[in-house]
Amino acid sequence: MLKFIRKWLKYFLFAALFSLFINILALTFPVYMLAIYDRVLSSYSMPTLMTITVAAIFALVVNAMLVFLRSRLLVMAGVDIDHTLASPVFAEMLKDSCSLQKSGYSAGLRDVNILRNYLGGNAIFALFDMPWVPIYLLFVFMVHPILGMISTGGVFLVFLLGITQELLTRKRLEKANSINAGAGNFTTLCLRNSESIGSMGMLEAAQDRWSTLNDEVIALQTRASNAAGFLQAISQSFRMGMQVIIYGVGAWLTLKNQCTAGVMIAASIIMGRALAPVDQAMATWKQTLEARSAYNRLKELMKKATPKQGMGLPDPTGKLDVEGVTLAVNGTYLLRNITFALAPGEVMGLIGPSAAGKTTLSRVLLGIWPSMGGKVRLDGADVYQWDQGHLGQFIGYLPQDVELFPGTVAQNIARLGDVDSDEVIKAAKKAGLHEMILHLPNGYDTMVGGVPGSMVLSGGQRQRVALARALYGSPRLVVLDEPNSNLDEAGERALMQTIALLKQEKVTTIIVTHKPSILISVDKVMVMQYGQVARFGTRQEVFQALAGQVPQAQPIQQPQPVVQQPHSAVQAQQPHQATLKPRQTDVQNPQSANSAAQGGDQIQPANSTITTTGANLNKRILN
Ligand SMILES: Nc1ncnc2c1ncn2[C@@H]1O[C@H](COP(=O)(O)OP(=O)(O)OP(=O)(O)O)[C@@H](O)[C@H]1O
Ligand SMILES: [Mg+2]
Repeated sequence: MLKFIRKWLKYFLFAALFSLFINILALTFPVYMLAIYDRVLSSYSMPTLMTITVAAIFALVVNAMLVFLRSRLLVMAGVDIDHTLASPVFAEMLKDSCSLQKSGYSAGLRDVNILRNYLGGNAIFALFDMPWVPIYLLFVFMVHPILGMISTGGVFLVFLLGITQELLTRKRLEKANSINAGAGNFTTLCLRNSESIGSMGMLEAAQDRWSTLNDEVIALQTRASNAAGFLQAISQSFRMGMQVIIYGVGAWLTLKNQCTAGVMIAASIIMGRALAPVDQAMATWKQTLEARSAYNRLKELMKKATPKQGMGLPDPTGKLDVEGVTLAVNGTYLLRNITFALAPGEVMGLIGPSAAGKTTLSRVLLGIWPSMGGKVRLDGADVYQWDQGHLGQFIGYLPQDVELFPGTVAQNIARLGDVDSDEVIKAAKKAGLHEMILHLPNGYDTMVGGVPGSMVLSGGQRQRVALARALYGSPRLVVLDEPNSNLDEAGERALMQTIALLKQEKVTTIIVTHKPSILISVDKVMVMQYGQVARFGTRQEVFQALAGQVPQAQPIQQPQPVVQQPHSAVQAQQPHQATLKPRQTDVQNPQSANSAAQGGDQIQPANSTITTTGANLNKRILN
């Protein structure tokens, strides 16, 4: 924001300089009038008339050029503002949106637009002309002190009306804008969930909720506009009244031989010039307030922008060390003292019940969310400190909720960058997707992502395209959050082949899943519960501990759903005890939490001990 202000200041100073000359030239007409009345008409001198007319025309031409240049300058400032601000604002909005405590501010680019239009528009001219008000008044004083006092009083009253308008409208307009932003977010959400709304008869309720917000906005805006309209009407009539007074008093002074008719008219014109910026500022007050709010919102957003230092690290091999990772939000632990390590090429299955913290841990592992205590290290370097642009090329992430971007399948796989066909096909083949893509109407060039005329892919197809995107390039750490939630049997088989390939290529892989069938292909398993590690070890160790049964490794081509094996087998198992402590809700000292549990099986016994059979526990953890 500082960079932007510095840049804008440069334009501002130039525009102010232009304004100086424009305002001096604005005196052309009153001076011309004065000369006509007092020089030409009294002396009947034709050459004088010719001279002052030529001088006036010249001044007007220069004035037109300066006004045009000032306007061009401000338009350029607007474009520059866009270049300086829009892109960083876009990036910050994305960062904010995936941050732990997002602000929900999604109107950043609209605010940049408001600011650009304001700084390049009419409203700003009023502000430039404002410093000239006292100078014009001084001119009127020089013409005649009484006329000067009347003009000063007039300007003061118009200014007072402006302040009253500000006081009456500001809060209402700010509130209206904030509710309007909420209504906009609600509309976007409704559009994204239109199927649920349509199928479950929620349309009326959604309409009602939107109408309530909209009615509130309209009511606030109406009240603000009514107040502004009333004050503007008063101000306009008052301005005309001021002209009447100036002419009346001017005529009276002329009759008393204290001034001439030329003086009277010139004073009236100069006073008009003095009132104009105040009047214009009032008329564009709403825009000024909007621009100010937009600026404040952007400032708040950009304040959070903490550029990460690109550490210039060598390309990682995929060695992952997670050291006592702890995360809490509003006094509630989401993650507590997670400690484990994976060697390059190791595949870990991450399982646990809903809300155990699997997705949360994935986000911390990828450097999306910070760890309050402890560190996630990739090849020894803290991932959160790593420059995301650099780290990103070594990361493959398949999020739990997949959405594709508007564009071709190839562009989606190529992560929106330049499409390297070989790499795209390689990634698609790795994800077992190549054949399916070839069967799409335009193959890799098929448009997807919900743009008009684009192909609508099924949930499973979308998930697999997103898997190919995760595998694009040379990721060293791949995190797949429920990659098989939408997959059919063939899809799961392909996924297992993908995992085998990743293992071959020594890519460290973490697979979050509720479906145990995929765990056949993993080396290690971590069971999470209440944001803690309930178990961690090799697949055999964890399954033995869970159910006393190790699922048999299956050939990749014909996987058997493992879920049936532990189920049938565990019927005969000895009861197994596991003690797990529910998440605590007081975060006094995250550091002390670190020492509470040290990874694997070291969860402390708790009051709410869960005692269950292996089968029950298995069910509990996997579902
Ligand atoms: N942005 C957030 N702010 C606060 N709490 C959050 C946030 N995101 C997730 N949580 C909380 O963190 C806990 C763990 O959520 P998470 O999404 O990690 O669970 P999960 O194990 O992935 O569950 P599932 O299997 O259902 O996907 C939940 O209690 C959730 O409410
Ligand atoms: Mg999840």
